[in-house]
Amino acid sequence: MAEPTALPVDELTPLEATIELARLAEEIARHDRAYYQSDAPAISDADYDALRRRNAAIEARFPDLVRADSPSRRVGAVPAEGFGKVRHARPMLSLDNAFSDEDVAEFVARIRRFLGFDETRAVELVAEPKIDGLSISLRYEHGRFVQGATRGDGAEGEDVTANLRTLKDLPQQLSGSVPDVLEIRGEVYMLRADFLSMNETRRNDGEKTLFANPRNAAAGSLRQLDPKITAGRPLSLFCYALGETSESIAETHWDFLARLRAWGFKVNDRVRLCQGVEDALAFYHAIGDERALLPYDIDGVVYKVNRFDWQNRLGQVSRSPRWATAHKFPAEQVSTILREIGISVGRTGALTPFAILEPVTVGGVTVGRATLHNEDEILRKDFREGDTVIIQRAGDVIPQVVAVVEAKRPAEARPFEPKETCPVCGSHAVKPEGEAIRRCTGGLTCDAQRVERLIHFASRNAFDIEGLGEKNVDFLFRSGRIQSPADIFRLEERENQTLLPLRGQPGWGAKSTQKLFEAIRARRVISLERFIYGLGIRQVGAATARLLAHHYRSLDAWRNAMAAAAEDREGEAWRQLTAIDQIGPAVAGDIADFFLEEHNRQALDDLIGQLQRVEDFVPSARTDSPVAGKTVVFTGSLQTLSRDEAKARAQELGAKVAGSVSAKTDYVIAGADAGSKLAKARELEIRILTEEDWLALIGG
Ligand code: IVH
Repeated sequence: MAEPTALPVDELTPLEATIELARLAEEIARHDRAYYQSDAPAISDADYDALRRRNAAIEARFPDLVRADSPSRRVGAVPAEGFGKVRHARPMLSLDNAFSDEDVAEFVARIRRFLGFDETRAVELVAEPKIDGLSISLRYEHGRFVQGATRGDGAEGEDVTANLRTLKDLPQQLSGSVPDVLEIRGEVYMLRADFLSMNETRRNDGEKTLFANPRNAAAGSLRQLDPKITAGRPLSLFCYALGETSESIAETHWDFLARLRAWGFKVNDRVRLCQGVEDALAFYHAIGDERALLPYDIDGVVYKVNRFDWQNRLGQVSRSPRWATAHKFPAEQVSTILREIGISVGRTGALTPFAILEPVTVGGVTVGRATLHNEDEILRKDFREGDTVIIQRAGDVIPQVVAVVEAKRPAEARPFEPKETCPVCGSHAVKPEGEAIRRCTGGLTCDAQRVERLIHFASRNAFDIEGLGEKNVDFLFRSGRIQSPADIFRLEERENQTLLPLRGQPGWGAKSTQKLFEAIRARRVISLERFIYGLGIRQVGAATARLLAHHYRSLDAWRNAMAAAAEDREGEAWRQLTAIDQIGPAVAGDIADFFLEEHNRQALDDLIGQLQRVEDFVPSARTDSPVAGKTVVFTGSLQTLSRDEAKARAQELGAKVAGSVSAKTDYVIAGADAGSKLAKARELEIRILTEEDWLALIGG
């Protein structure tokens, strides 16, 4: 699996590249974890490098498809081999976020409550631009710079002293009287102009990888094992916080910033002393308007309580200080033309509308397509082809069309009319009352659904057949070579009998054909959970397939039970199925519907006939992990793990993954934009972990 697929990079279609980049991001992240967190590399260095090279080559060909979680952008995510570790004398904290003016007012109100002040008491704040770079810690002894480190996990970072010495903004020797020990914190960043010209030079030099944005460029440049490379990169530095110190330096943050300047550090000249919330918000809105004109990227404003004695009294909660918060700017939005509303047909017949846009850059990435969710949303927001629309990329998520600029609507633009037929097979497409999704009723007579099912069958979490990506499945289907999953296993045999062998077809050499056959052969033995997932039953995702495998253990037991449950929805088999935690009547109903279809049962038998063995499920014996036996709930979007991966990993460690929060829940892992589940967890006082906390828990 470590091997790059046979498909040459310059033959990938954009769709294939998208899928391949997703696969590589996941796979490389998995190897990174195995290597860095478990000290157990699963593949050789050469294979690992090959994966990274392939990722870089695809990104170089499709710069628009670079993923937010791409391994090339995650240069800083894991401690690189070769850097020493530095334990921070005082932990490097992160900041709580405020997203609205009300949040900021509440931040100050909380401070007053905590300090026992009434509402009239003024709380001075220092407002500072929140620089979008990476934080570092600088240690000075007797005024000389002796050590510099990255933040790392907050407790321990990497020793990047030699690299930091190459920064023009970093004073090697401080002027004036300085405490014996002085640790200063700040942000390494790259000016936008420097970033652009550096990328330009790289492009001219024929470098394959360009940096996606100044932040990544700064992180990638600082974390070079060879300081000579860092020296050639245009890095800048602002200092803004105090770490360890052998004597007290100032009474207020404002005065501390003045001393920093006097010692020779660069301090942002846009910092402002504010008398209260109103002042602070005025600063936020003013600098927000100027944001695009600043020479560097900022992603918000940081407010800090000015008085150090108050800061000390306020202390911290989990990993953030109570005396500071980051007021984030809203997601960047841009306008462009909605050229066309396209409809894609999924594996289960769901018709999903998407926007084909005049390509435009937003948040540093070129966007040509965006999701439109469903037809109700299109009608509600009245999106029309030809409209000028506002799109946004919120953080790392898929671009969305958020609004239409009605003043710019062309006279001939007509309201969107949902089609009642499938764009692929022409079958009736129905949208049941009260449901958001319209579905093609063509079932397996719809080519789109058949192809999608085959793609699903061969995909990573299912049969994981290397070389059977979207493009190849599509080709094999259209050329009549495969119609059902079982046909995949007959390909090789047919190859030797047909007058039109696969090798020799455009894009199919003897070598790639052979590799594909090998990959297929290797899957004649398959685990029960992959088998179940591969069938593509509606609502049976990887986690549900695993639950089913866990419960029924063998293919025969599962198949007999499902057939029985389908026959009698009041009988014992049905009762057992719906008694499995997280399998409700809706999911059970979809499984039963699948088994009631004659052609599904035939396809299943046909497939089993081609396999050598479906392996029984062997429950993992992990009872020793810190989460064994615990019930956990994931909510919100996770940054480093896909949801499936997070669930699978939790289950491997013996945890039970639940879909909703109840009194039985032990941990709720809350990613970005967590909603009602998080609220419920708070209400029930269940332990809430950030993604980082969770990784620390299971990594340890
Ligand atoms: S103060 C305990 N000030 O934002 C306070 N942080 O989300 C520590 N950042 O890790 C941070 N500009 O990398 C502070 N003026 C500023 C900042 C700033 C950018 C970053 C920093 C920190 C992150 C927290």
